[in-house]
Amino acid sequence: MLKDKSILLIISGGIAAYKALELIRLIRKDGAKVRCILTKGGEQFVTPLSVASLSENEVYTDLWSLKDETEMGHIRLSREADLIIVAPASADLMAKMANGYANDLASTCLLASDTHILAAPAMNHKMWDNPATQGNIKTLRDRGILFSGPDAGDMACGEHGIGRLSEPENILDSVRNFFRYKDALKGVRAVVTSGPTYEPIDPVRFIGNRSSGKQGQAIAEALSLAGADVHLITGPVSLPPPAVKQITRVETALEMLDAVEADLPFEIFIGTAAVSDWRANDLAQQKIKKDGTNVPELKLTENPDILKIVANHKTHRPALVIGFAAETENLQENARNKVNKKSCDWLLANNVAAEKKVFGTDENHVMLFQTNTDGHEDWGQMTKSSLAQKLVSKIIEELKNGEKNDTSTILAAE
Ligand code: PMT
Repeated sequence: MLKDKSILLIISGGIAAYKALELIRLIRKDGAKVRCILTKGGEQFVTPLSVASLSENEVYTDLWSLKDETEMGHIRLSREADLIIVAPASADLMAKMANGYANDLASTCLLASDTHILAAPAMNHKMWDNPATQGNIKTLRDRGILFSGPDAGDMACGEHGIGRLSEPENILDSVRNFFRYKDALKGVRAVVTSGPTYEPIDPVRFIGNRSSGKQGQAIAEALSLAGADVHLITGPVSLPPPAVKQITRVETALEMLDAVEADLPFEIFIGTAAVSDWRANDLAQQKIKKDGTNVPELKLTENPDILKIVANHKTHRPALVIGFAAETENLQENARNKVNKKSCDWLLANNVAAEKKVFGTDENHVMLFQTNTDGHEDWGQMTKSSLAQKLVSKIIEELKNGEKNDTSTILAAE
């Protein structure tokens, strides 16, 4: 997959640096050549000898090394790579990147680079949450730096939160994806809805559902890696924000609809959100009190169907409108009815019965239904990230073939 590719891997300081060794092994196994820069911080966690042994290449550590500069100057080091990966990307190195520092070999190469950069951040969760780090991440994202992770979970320091380095296999997936779809969707605008909606009953209670946002965010990230301008509109979730151009956080179905409509026109719409079908008729201004005798009656109003509204838009219907169907029974029959009723182009149906473990997990199993086509494709059990990649490659094929709504004009000429 990565045959003939040349990767420059920058390993900065952090306990997760040991995972970079596995990353080198995986990338090389996939066929790419790996050169490594080890920062002074990185050297505290892994040795140049282990990096050199695994990469079977010289390891570069010093900006001022005469030998390194004569053999492979820092400009050549950054220019000869098809992709620069920074893993782990420490808060310090990303601050340097965001502010244009060039005071060591890693930051100098990054500043001198004219190629794509993929950063896999790793740090303590408070450092990650700090507005200084978040500001730097935003700057880097705006400049087109790609990101893999970070993940949430237990940290080496004993705390828990967002900041763990992505697993090497996931970073490899992002690298493969980058080369497979690089810029295929450049200039294409995509809106992805994700997560649940919360419909308030009173200031304390709401109607919600179990969607975690994992599937929607994986799709948003995969589209972004393929070069699309992605706007993720998400209900309340506790996931780290994905690396996409724009994120809008909403709570209710009405707010989600407003955010979607405000962004029209765009070319691709993917409705992954588990939008509540109903909202409370009246929103109580104060917490509804239990009086021991009467149980309050909850009256509901139907929410607008965002997917249906977008798919039937008179003036700005996107070229591709894709929905999901969450079913617990009669999946095929219900999905077929849904695709016709909502007039979306494709519908990915998943069985969300409790025993199938779709909500909040890392895996899914969908069947694809299309308008005007009988039958369906069974995609089998896969990770949500692989599903997202498969969907994005299908979208790219569809837009290339231009079979639907003259979509061929959407993609820039190759
Ligand atoms: O978030 P995860 O934990 O990763 O779980 C992923 C998922 C199960 C939420 C996801 O794969 C999924 O199935 N999303 C769609 C959930 C849903 O609301 O399905 P539905 O069958 O009720 O709705 C069908 C389609 O209409 C969906 O695309 C939905 O976004 C859309 N819809 C529904 C109601 C409404 N008022 N407006 C809508 O746009």
